[in-house]
Amino acid sequence: MTLIQPRRPELRTALPGPKAAEIMRRDREKLSTSYMRPFPFVPDHGEGVWLTDVDGNTMLDFMAGIAVSTTGYNHPHVVEAISAQARRFMHVCLTDYPQEVTTDLAERLVSHVARPGENWRVFFGNSGAEAVEAAVKLARNHTGRSHVISTIGSFHGRTYGAITLTGSKTKYKRGFGPLLPNVSHVPYPNPFRPAFGATPETVSDAVLSYVEDVLFQTVIPADEVAAFIVEPMQGEGGYIVPPADFLRKLRALCDRHGIMLIFDEVQAGMGRSGKFLSYQHFEGVQPDIITMAKGLASGMPISAMLAREEVMTWGVGSHGSTFGGNPVAAAAAMATLDLLDGTVKHEGCGESLMENARLVGEYCMDEFRALQRNYPFIGDVRGRGLFIGVEFVDASGRPDAKIRDAASAAMFERGLLNLDCGESSIRLSPPLILTREEAGVGMEIVADALASL
Ligand SMILES: Cc1ncc(COP(=O)(O)O)c(C=O)c1O
Repeated sequence: MTLIQPRRPELRTALPGPKAAEIMRRDREKLSTSYMRPFPFVPDHGEGVWLTDVDGNTMLDFMAGIAVSTTGYNHPHVVEAISAQARRFMHVCLTDYPQEVTTDLAERLVSHVARPGENWRVFFGNSGAEAVEAAVKLARNHTGRSHVISTIGSFHGRTYGAITLTGSKTKYKRGFGPLLPNVSHVPYPNPFRPAFGATPETVSDAVLSYVEDVLFQTVIPADEVAAFIVEPMQGEGGYIVPPADFLRKLRALCDRHGIMLIFDEVQAGMGRSGKFLSYQHFEGVQPDIITMAKGLASGMPISAMLAREEVMTWGVGSHGSTFGGNPVAAAAAMATLDLLDGTVKHEGCGESLMENARLVGEYCMDEFRALQRNYPFIGDVRGRGLFIGVEFVDASGRPDAKIRDAASAAMFERGLLNLDCGESSIRLSPPLILTREEAGVGMEIVADALASL
């Protein structure tokens, strides 16, 4: 039997190399001062889960452009769909005219969400924040109420409504006020750091009784609350999976008070968790409104806000977008869904990319847990599928961003592109075409990087 040796990162220059350094210099001079540049990497081209920079350095990608490049950087099936649609037409405007590819996409998204007997409808935008804005506008319009509840640690985007809902870092809000009125934040039930002195078993009840017994009695009348928006698995806040009972109990609370339940699936959705949407890991829960974006079209900009038929009651012309539902992006989404659900197979990834995410994700979590036994600075390993968070802690168990940053830099120096999240965590969010062998190469780099600390 011949063993196929998986590819490895190839670093030809120090990072950044001369060409990358020059582009970074020009970038610093002309681009917005708000852009972050965590690592000196300037991409030139991609191939599967490998990205090569402008100086010929090839890195293994464990971040997928913030959980976007579901099928890698230029999957032939997606590229073909994009060019075929571009040859037909690139834009007419979905607000005014139907277009077949976007109708196909709407039907396909609904088929992943609707239960028997339900109909859902879809509004298309271009970004996660736009989907979130649409969700909140619809919830207010439908209920005739104004207040919205969100969670601490959440991230919902950078537009005014979305930053108001975001609860992860104050830097997103400093100097930008006034924000949207009538928004409150409550703790997210993090089993590793339960709020209110609760335990992982009691934290869902603790959070929800805070909403019911404190917030609704002292701050906002429940019958003025339009929506509760929540990430079913929290992304930027640390890749956190809530306890099994949380979403079901939250659904019951919303039902008691006529509150729309919005699940923001922008980061955890689109197959990354091993199911199409992350809330589908929790039995018996169905939201009223869902937002999707990021990985939906493998990097082409498109987002979707889905709502149950009874909820999408806003009037003709009340909401729209010039580019939203662009046909080229919609074709890319259809091709991405082919690979996610296994209509089209990707060699080396089993029946579907969703199944691959589940299996390769389990392997990576096992490897991280093995490392955790050797390294006390790994406080927690959590996630589902290829949505994995690893939290770094100091000797007393407090979040330790310094050791996280050192680990992250050591991985990068060894050829592994990675991203942080939360206060002191690293997120593993690779393309879903990552094979078990490529994951093995990545985990060897992680082990070597941690050993160097
Ligand atoms: C859960 C969630 N919602 C919304 C957004 C905003 O998406 P976008 O940056 O496309 O506006 C993000 C982005 O990270 C996200 O993670």
